[in-house]
Amino acid sequence: MKVLITGGAGYVGTGLVPVLLDKGYQVTVYDNLLFGGDPILPFFRRPNFDFIRGDVRDLDSLKKATKGADVVIHLAAIVGYPACRKEPELAKAVNVGGTKNVIKATSDNQLIIFGSTGSNYGAVEEICTEETPLHPLSLYGQTKTLAERMLLQERNTIAWRFATAFGVSPRLRLDLMVNDFTYKSVTEGYLVIYEKHFMRTFIHVHDMARVFLFGIENRCQMVNNVYNVGSKKMNYSKEDICNLIKKHTGVYVHYADVGEDADKRNYVVSYDKINKLGYDTTITVEDGIRELIHAIRAIEFRKPYANV
Ligand SMILES: NC(=O)c1ccc[n+]([C@@H]2O[C@H](COP(=O)([O-])OP(=O)(O)OC[C@H]3O[C@@H](n4cnc5c(N)ncnc54)[C@H](O)[C@@H]3O)[C@@H](O)[C@H]2O)c1
Repeated sequence: MKVLITGGAGYVGTGLVPVLLDKGYQVTVYDNLLFGGDPILPFFRRPNFDFIRGDVRDLDSLKKATKGADVVIHLAAIVGYPACRKEPELAKAVNVGGTKNVIKATSDNQLIIFGSTGSNYGAVEEICTEETPLHPLSLYGQTKTLAERMLLQERNTIAWRFATAFGVSPRLRLDLMVNDFTYKSVTEGYLVIYEKHFMRTFIHVHDMARVFLFGIENRCQMVNNVYNVGSKKMNYSKEDICNLIKKHTGVYVHYADVGEDADKRNYVVSYDKINKLGYDTTITVEDGIRELIHAIRAIEFRKPYANV
């Protein structure tokens, strides 16, 4: 099995690559190394690993890279609303233009697996299922929604609408909610939290890696579909997350409405569709908090890992 991963040097990708390499797949990462190449260094000693430094906006290069791949996992993106807000033209060119190029560079006999997001839903009152209409509020959500739609229309695609990731990965991101709150709790000793009752949903980065394998192995029954990826056990309010972190760090938490989430994510998500097929998450938020505390206390990060 030959798998090409665009954006494979990122937070999700560097958690996914070893899982696919261990399975014996031939894995090629295609990435422009926006955040550097250190996180992928351990993979170069693996005989079934290859790396192409390339940009998804470069169609010719992408065409060469996708040739011969059985599966193309499309992760390359400008990720998160702050990064998209900072460079909106780049976000559109990469998230939408780059996805158009993935469509042009691939054919019907290749499976595309797309890393989509729950940010596509926008503000929703009822429990989100895959049928819930999409009303993305930020440029990030809008570009990801468009990309998801194009891929499902044009290619044999499985799209994962992921919960918010947490946990340690080689390309650590500390701008994700659980990671950010845990980092600040350990390094600063206090948190100021707005929208404390907002409900969010989470998934460990290793459980994200597992679902790509699940999709490849069950491709026949899953293709041409979109799935919320997470678990019903993993819907929490922001206050719940703070209480879990407080239990392990003793952090002082002050609640004050001093900000807002541009994606207005305040939703409970149903994962029945994917859970019924046999996929569920394995790592709890509390486990993730413990692993983050361990890493943050042990390593003095030279600069906070974030996307902006
Ligand atoms: N982390 C999450 O919570 C989460 C949740 C839902 C969906 N996703 C999706 O998963 C994917 C990966 O997210 P992540 O958290 O790993 O983000 P990340 O920012 O860590 O990784 C993105 C990767 O894409 C690469 N990239 C950016 N622009 C590129 C370009 N023009 N050409 C080639 N490569 C380029 C970067 O170098 C980086 O390695 C994204 O598509 C994101 O929308 C992530």
